[in-house]
Amino acid sequence: MSGVILDKVVKRYGAVEVVHAIDLTVEPQEFVVLVGPSGCGKSTTLRMIAGLEEISDGTVEIDGRVVNRVAPKDRDVAMVFQNYALYPHLNVADNIAFGLRIRRTPKAEVLASIEEVAGILGLTEYLDRRPADLSGGQRQRVAMGRAIVRHPKVFLFDEPLSNLDAKLRTQMRAEIKRLHKRLGVTSVYVTHDQVEAMTLADRIVVMQDGHIEQIGTPMDLFLNPVNTFVAGFIGSPPMNQIEAIVEGGADAPRATFAGQSIALPKLDELSSRVGEKVTIGIRPEHAKIEPAGADAISVELDLVETLGSEALLHTTLAGNPFIIKAETGGDVEHLNQVTQFWAGPETIKVFDGKTGRAFGHPATSYQGGS
Ligand SMILES: Nc1ncnc2c1ncn2[C@@H]1O[C@H](COP(=O)(O)OP(=O)(O)O)[C@@H](O)[C@H]1O
Ligand SMILES: [Mg+2]
Repeated sequence: MSGVILDKVVKRYGAVEVVHAIDLTVEPQEFVVLVGPSGCGKSTTLRMIAGLEEISDGTVEIDGRVVNRVAPKDRDVAMVFQNYALYPHLNVADNIAFGLRIRRTPKAEVLASIEEVAGILGLTEYLDRRPADLSGGQRQRVAMGRAIVRHPKVFLFDEPLSNLDAKLRTQMRAEIKRLHKRLGVTSVYVTHDQVEAMTLADRIVVMQDGHIEQIGTPMDLFLNPVNTFVAGFIGSPPMNQIEAIVEGGADAPRATFAGQSIALPKLDELSSRVGEKVTIGIRPEHAKIEPAGADAISVELDLVETLGSEALLHTTLAGNPFIIKAETGGDVEHLNQVTQFWAGPETIKVFDGKTGRAFGHPATSYQGGS
């Protein structure tokens, strides 16, 4: 089975470097998602794997072979785009078969492939239709069919669901996941949507400004973000961040901010940081409103957003927004009375006030270079 290895891959447009020596190993059969804000270099990276952009420096290896000088059509990858890129004058069957016919695949084989792929994707009834007569979701399925039919070594997806409405996006996301389970083809998937990344990926690669900030499983990134950028990007809503000063010793470290104080986890690095600025991170899910023995932190409640079984409490803490995710228990009235929360020290993250780097981060999942 085929993996993909990026070794110090650089992309320059003229004098401007937009991807900075990134290293990434995608294991055979793995589903890896590149996620990050617009312009961070996701598509450029994917297109270098596909062969649609020249690689300025470093190497890309697919299935054990360096492909820097290999033409896109000979890399044995199939790409699915946001805009589907279907041929409007061809029907579904001919769109699916297009790549096979170009490769002069025997007719019987082409017909069998169309039938098989249409079956997998639920397109059998629509084979005679043109793209204009299909829904957005069906068009996206045709685009995937065209990729699947070629039995490529690697699937590359660039924001394939971004043109769909929210409901269809959720549905297609599940279909892509099922498809990957069934076919087991190595996949690299680009999105700016962290929910899509969390739900689809075996491992997520968080990018910013042409760098990789962190690589890890969805839970790795959720529980142990390597820095404030990843903490603020992953999770919905993302991790709350509060500027604070370290107090106390190694045995009982605390953070103070705006006249309040909270117990921190016992991290070795904190003992030498007394009096220094840090950012403390608390996930909305880890801020508890039920009474408990731990420190209570006072907040000003601005707004309660009810989602059903859960609600988001938008509050202000030390002048900054702070979101608490609470169970409603079927009743939101009591949530309007909230004035404080607590968080167990073991759930609190501490980041360097200057660099944003997480203290006590398990070194294994740290991949950041910047
Ligand atoms: N053909 C190009 N010429 C110059 N700069 C480009 C070109 N294509 C992309 N860029 C720049 O490269 C950076 C990364 O772009 P891209 O990979 O498309 O980002 P993403 O897919 O993460 O939104 C951006 O700053 C973008 O403006
Ligand atoms: Mg892009």
